[in-house]
Amino acid sequence: MRATAGALGGARARCERAIGARSVTKTRSARRGGRATRAASAAELASEENKDVKVLVVGATGYIGKYVTRELCARGYDVTAFTREKSGIGGKTNATDAKALFPDAKVKFGDVGSKESIETKAFDEGAYDVVVSCLASRTGGVKDSWDIDYRATKNVLDVARERGSKHFVLLSAICVQKPTLTFQKAKLKFEAELQAAGDISYTIVRPTAFFKSLAGQVEVVQKGGPYVMFGDGQLASCKPISESDLAKFMADSIREPEMLNKVLPIGGPGEAMSALQQGTMLFELLEMEPKFIKVPIEVMDVAIKVLDVFAGFFSNMKDAAEFGKIGRYYAAESMLVMNDDGKYDAAATPSYGSDTLKEFFDKVSKEGLAGQELGDQAVFK
Ligand SMILES: NC(=O)c1ccc[n+]([C@@H]2O[C@H](COP(=O)([O-])OP(=O)(O)OC[C@H]3O[C@@H](n4cnc5c(N)ncnc54)[C@H](OP(=O)(O)O)[C@@H]3O)[C@@H](O)[C@H]2O)c1
Repeated sequence: MRATAGALGGARARCERAIGARSVTKTRSARRGGRATRAASAAELASEENKDVKVLVVGATGYIGKYVTRELCARGYDVTAFTREKSGIGGKTNATDAKALFPDAKVKFGDVGSKESIETKAFDEGAYDVVVSCLASRTGGVKDSWDIDYRATKNVLDVARERGSKHFVLLSAICVQKPTLTFQKAKLKFEAELQAAGDISYTIVRPTAFFKSLAGQVEVVQKGGPYVMFGDGQLASCKPISESDLAKFMADSIREPEMLNKVLPIGGPGEAMSALQQGTMLFELLEMEPKFIKVPIEVMDVAIKVLDVFAGFFSNMKDAAEFGKIGRYYAAESMLVMNDDGKYDAAATPSYGSDTLKEFFDKVSKEGLAGQELGDQAVFK
């Protein structure tokens, strides 16, 4: 593993403290109702070389999925990416482009919304040892969250279990520890079913904020605009992690016994940062005089109330109301481990990797946000 002993060794201990009872062992979950008679586990892969380990990635065309797929290829695994014929933001990536994204992987096309499609188009050449899911609703809308974060991911798990896959790696989110939003509830339902499966080992990775989600104001500030934040800019903090470090952490879970059958919250290196600290760092980096706009959080509360009223009358307003709640959530809730007292705890939030947000801001200030598109639901991406 690439984490320093202090990073992951300490992280591991902190993870285990933080996740408590949620980190169940396979044996215990199997007793709770796993359906298979023989429990498979990534532990069985110990004697295999990476080239002999078949890995399926779903959600490979997403922001994190791309890095995960390439990281697995770089480590020499036998990787297959299963994608839509038209993938990427706005469906702009066609089949040829998708293949070009992953020159070292097989790319297969089908529909994760259909078990039959997964069986006949992804598993058509046999089983996979490991399945990695980076699937996520691109919108965060109510129906789409249940369709993708729960049902489609469950379809993939069902087929993986039927075909005897040994390990399932799930990209989740740290925010599910305080679930109020639909996509969080959908993810949690899937997490629970994965943990209860009993016949396949798992690693559930719950990252804090991604770099791209925090870089949206770099170009505005560079052009002389203000840095906008809610409240005093200290309502929420996070330990941002780069897409590349997160991909490495997820890839580690295939070979690292300590990461099996665990729910692992994970952040990047360094101290937790509030919006005020991120903005201050950005102005320093750009050698500009700080200029902040502080928006009262109550403004969002009013907007959400209005949207909720409309959603009660017009079902097509339900997603707009949900998007408002997503924005409000990220403005006020920290992306840090919550301790037993219900408080966000930076010290209890494990760190991994070496990429820093400062380096990323610097890169974006020189090269722009090309390749960092926030997607259809920019409010939480
Ligand atoms: N943003 C943050 O700071 C942050 C922090 C922690 C955790 N997270 C979590 O990280 C996860 C992944 O984020 P991301 O930015 O990598 O997501 P993303 O770029 O939106 O990627 C989503 C993936 O899911 C696939 N997908 C979505 N709808 C689909 C459908 N109907 N059929 C087939 N495939 C579908 C997409 O395929 P297509 O390319 O075909 O659309 C894409 O591969 C999310 O669950 C998020 O909650 C985010």
